[in-house]
Amino acid sequence: MARGKIVAGILAPHPPHLVYAEAAPQNEVHGSCGWESLRWGYAACRERLRALQAEVLLVHSPHWQTIVGHHVIAVDTLKGLAVDPIFPHIFRYHYEVNFEVALAKKIAEEARVEGLTTALMTNPDFCLDYGSVTSLHMVNPQWDLPVVVLSANNSPYYFSTTKGMEEMTKLGVATRRAIEQSGKRCVLLASNSLSHRHFTEEPAVIEDMSAERIYQHSHYQWDMKVLAMMRAGRAQELLELLPHYIEETAAEVKAGALTWMLAALGVPTYGAEVHGYGTVIGTGNAVVGWYEDVEQGASNV
Ligand SMILES: [Fe+2]
Repeated sequence: MARGKIVAGILAPHPPHLVYAEAAPQNEVHGSCGWESLRWGYAACRERLRALQAEVLLVHSPHWQTIVGHHVIAVDTLKGLAVDPIFPHIFRYHYEVNFEVALAKKIAEEARVEGLTTALMTNPDFCLDYGSVTSLHMVNPQWDLPVVVLSANNSPYYFSTTKGMEEMTKLGVATRRAIEQSGKRCVLLASNSLSHRHFTEEPAVIEDMSAERIYQHSHYQWDMKVLAMMRAGRAQELLELLPHYIEETAAEVKAGALTWMLAALGVPTYGAEVHGYGTVIGTGNAVVGWYEDVEQGASNV
């Protein structure tokens, strides 16, 4: 069996507004427009992933939070309705998804080797969280690839950001080892926004872009600083800065997906490609791709 590999790592934020604005047929509610800079960024990302012939998508989402240990879904299929608890009026999504169970089990096994508490989620009636569903939809709206979904252990909140990052780093290292043994071409999705303060009142027209802007200018400045580091291949420096960035902007990356992904990618020194940046109800969001082969084989400006 050929050695498996991570063909891309994607920062894949999950505001449900993006699925609403896409008028996705799986969603019960259809918007007419909005948040194009992010949606077009996702479209560009999809083009890149198609060329990479990915076989499995793995997602780590802050909205499947587990208190004890790191859980991995290990059922063949799930079918159901995901509803955003904050925005049920724009996100009621009917999903049907197949899982790469062998890889999920291998990740749990390797995570245990790293000393992490793990569990396999085997409830056939489990309801997928809206964060995972949104990121998976925006990257692959036809849902024709099997997936692996990992929970976000609560350690960044229950203990500290630093403790959480230690856990997610181990999970990333374990994920990489498991993928290498799987023989599969895998894409990692870190389902996180960047800065994360948001407005608490919606405009009368949800997709009214005249009401959309960053919550606070300093958050925008921080987001730009972080994106510049990603583009420059300064992942190690970014990881060191992350606790301070989280403190300054309430960044959703606190939940661990970005740390998990960067660790799995081996803390990349090649530059990432920023496909798009935009705000959603004031939060900062970016679609960013790390494509190791492209960087090493050709330009990735
Ligand atoms: Fe979120």
